[in-house]
Amino acid sequence: MRTVYLNGDYLPETEAKVSIFDRGFLMADGVYEVTSVLDGKLIDFAGHAARLERSLSELEMRSPISMDDLLEVHRELVRVNEIDEGMIYLQITRGAPGDRDFAYPPEDTEPTIVLFTQNKPGLANSPAAQKGMKVISIADERWGRRDIKTVQLLYPSMGKMMAKAAGCDDAWMVEDGAVTEGTSNNAYIVKGNTIITRQLSNDILHGITRAAVLRFAKEAQMKVEERPFTIAEAQEADEAFITSASTFVMPVVEIDGKALGDGTPGSVAARLREIYLDESRKAAV
Ligand code: PDD
Repeated sequence: MRTVYLNGDYLPETEAKVSIFDRGFLMADGVYEVTSVLDGKLIDFAGHAARLERSLSELEMRSPISMDDLLEVHRELVRVNEIDEGMIYLQITRGAPGDRDFAYPPEDTEPTIVLFTQNKPGLANSPAAQKGMKVISIADERWGRRDIKTVQLLYPSMGKMMAKAAGCDDAWMVEDGAVTEGTSNNAYIVKGNTIITRQLSNDILHGITRAAVLRFAKEAQMKVEERPFTIAEAQEADEAFITSASTFVMPVVEIDGKALGDGTPGSVAARLREIYLDESRKAAV
């Protein structure tokens, strides 16, 4: 049985209980992070901690823990659950004020903090990376502050189900004619030596993997264009891929039924995946 972390305690997963009045449960009033683990070490913890602090601050929510202590909790969970490859999920909510009210609870309401591990042996050597993903496009019907990593994930969850129903792996969301991002990842296309991905704004999550991959791409003399692109442009691209903490760099081989190139994963995505995994392992903590 997993050991999880809840409000200062390490507990067996079946004993970790949260109030029915928790704002996360009633209002989706919470933020989260997913950090991957390779070789028993955390990938880009500093990036995830910085984005967590930003998400909290945008929602005027206080953190129940310092970022140094949070690192120790991550490490302890990796240790006790013997995680070699996998992820750590972290969620902080505005706490449980004891009733339901649209107004935020008093400042002294203790936030709720939960962390648990997800053991995923073979995460880095995923067969999906060899095969590539098929995506469909759907309308982006999420709220307007997608830069904040909140637990309001119903629409992305619906999008994933729409993709599955279409025999595909994920959905790319489209707004005003251009791709925003995948249901739980950032989206990219490749034309020649140029990587194209939507620029940062409140329309997308500022992916921690995205920041690292774009940095590595520039270091490897690839060109990066941060701008919106359409599904039609993506279907004519040489390659496409996604990034996230749980998939790293994952090739996309089909968009709305149209195969990209010869329908197999492209070389730029494969190279970026390799660089990303190598560099991230080196810098893991
Ligand atoms: N999702 N865009 C969205 C909407 C996401 O939910 C995620 C991450 C990303 C990629 O961000 P990062 O590179 O920091 O993981 C982009 C996580 C993995 C999840 O919900 O499980």
